[in-house]
Amino acid sequence: MYNIIPQPVSILTNSERKGFTLHAGTTVTPCAFADMFISFVRKTLNKKVRIQEDTGEEKTIVFKIDDTVDHDEGYTIKCENRRVFVNAKTETGLFYGMQTLCQMLLQTNGKLPYTEITDYPRFSYRGFMLDSGRYFYSVPDVKRIIDLMALHKLNVLHWHLTEDQGWRVEIKKYPLLTEKGSKRSHTNFKSTPHEGYYTQEDIKEIVAYCHERKIKVIPEFDIPGHCVAAIACYPELSCFNRELEVATHWGVKHDILCAGKESTYGFVFGVLDELMELFPDKIIHIGGDEAVKMRWKLCPDCQRAIRENGLKDENELQMYFTAKVNNYLKEHGYSAVMWNYDLSGDTEKLPADIAWTVCGVSGGNEQLKGEINRGRKMINTNAYPYYLDFPYGWNTLKKVCNYDGALTDDDSETWGVEGCMWTEYVPDMKRLEFLTFPRLGAIAEAGWAEKGYPSFATFIHKAEDYYNLLDVYGVNYAKLKTACPSFAYRHISSLWFKRRVFHWQGIHNLLDDAKVRKLKNLKTGNS
Ligand code: ACM
Ligand code: ZN
Repeated sequence: MYNIIPQPVSILTNSERKGFTLHAGTTVTPCAFADMFISFVRKTLNKKVRIQEDTGEEKTIVFKIDDTVDHDEGYTIKCENRRVFVNAKTETGLFYGMQTLCQMLLQTNGKLPYTEITDYPRFSYRGFMLDSGRYFYSVPDVKRIIDLMALHKLNVLHWHLTEDQGWRVEIKKYPLLTEKGSKRSHTNFKSTPHEGYYTQEDIKEIVAYCHERKIKVIPEFDIPGHCVAAIACYPELSCFNRELEVATHWGVKHDILCAGKESTYGFVFGVLDELMELFPDKIIHIGGDEAVKMRWKLCPDCQRAIRENGLKDENELQMYFTAKVNNYLKEHGYSAVMWNYDLSGDTEKLPADIAWTVCGVSGGNEQLKGEINRGRKMINTNAYPYYLDFPYGWNTLKKVCNYDGALTDDDSETWGVEGCMWTEYVPDMKRLEFLTFPRLGAIAEAGWAEKGYPSFATFIHKAEDYYNLLDVYGVNYAKLKTACPSFAYRHISSLWFKRRVFHWQGIHNLLDDAKVRKLKNLKTGNS
């Protein structure tokens, strides 16, 4: 009868009993998000609903906290002849019940059959990652993304705020980070400059907006790699104090934070102090991906740190660096998340209380299992198929649908799932929405619905209603034909995406490496 995304755990309808029709006189009991509900009804059904305390009268939609509902995020809905009841243990559960009720009203044009729904999520972490580093997305853009997340019962915004190509968060202790670090002279696409950053007031506004929609915010401060924008502002953060410009092009950069200088830790802690003030949800993502060790191998400071701390090599230096940052966060009541991508060496040296966003299992399933056994929490962000910037030719809708969100056979070993929107090649909202939808619908379903959902067949069956819902918000989604491309199109779109390699600046990196070797020889007196 209904085609809800994400699929609820159980839906019963009964055509022999009378249902509920939403009229002009329908009222809704007061709750924090009654206005959102009313505005949805007005927009989709062109009906005015009033807020009124429950007087036991007919034609009322009752949102009610109810301790007997099992799950913290769960809810029940009962549509009877006279009234609709949405019950939940928490306000979050009520919010999700409201989201489901909106989809039901849209699909029935306000004439709900007798219905009983019981629902709760499969995973407690259901995320979306936005890379605001490569391209800046304005406050209204970010709010729009948050609204769309809420529609899908997603509950974590993982916000990638620092990158080689741009520093996006105001840090009062280090003003250059935004004065200079938020601007690049040109981009992959254009010879025109690109810039933008969030003031601390903007950040507070976004965090509050998320919280109203039951979404936690995990900011990402990507260290020690992906820091060229910061180094461009404060050269002493790098090995050899290099004078660099904010990166313009895609690609893994060789200049990363120097892990040998005490001053680097002072900077990192200074930034974290302000991030902890701004982001009260007690979790910070500290990146850790693609930290090329080329400079560390040559840097006298890094080499001294390796010797003095009895470390084996540069990989262990990254573990040392990360453990130090993790300890700092823990001392302040925060916990850390990091990427497992390109994390070389013996990860058993890495504190087990740092959760991983698992974007691939390059260390093998055995390593993953070992880390789970040590107690490490795992978020499934597998690039294939959860990287949403990849073309539909690579991560087809079918692939996303038929992929199970759990990393192992035991659901309790996966914290949750997250769709990742990297924006090297996504310059605006139009492109972002086109790539994100409908794939995010399938990811949300993997995070919420019971095992077995989504499947390609069930998702396609619901697609028309899903698109109708997205139309309410004017989303620029990809049509099914694009999201499920033909063999030929798959290859063409992949080739088009691979043009990235022309932007990688490989030659530039090689020349730059030669310069650093020369610097090192000057410093150590070698020739
Ligand atoms: C990553 O894909 N750089 C985590
Ligand atoms: Zn160094």
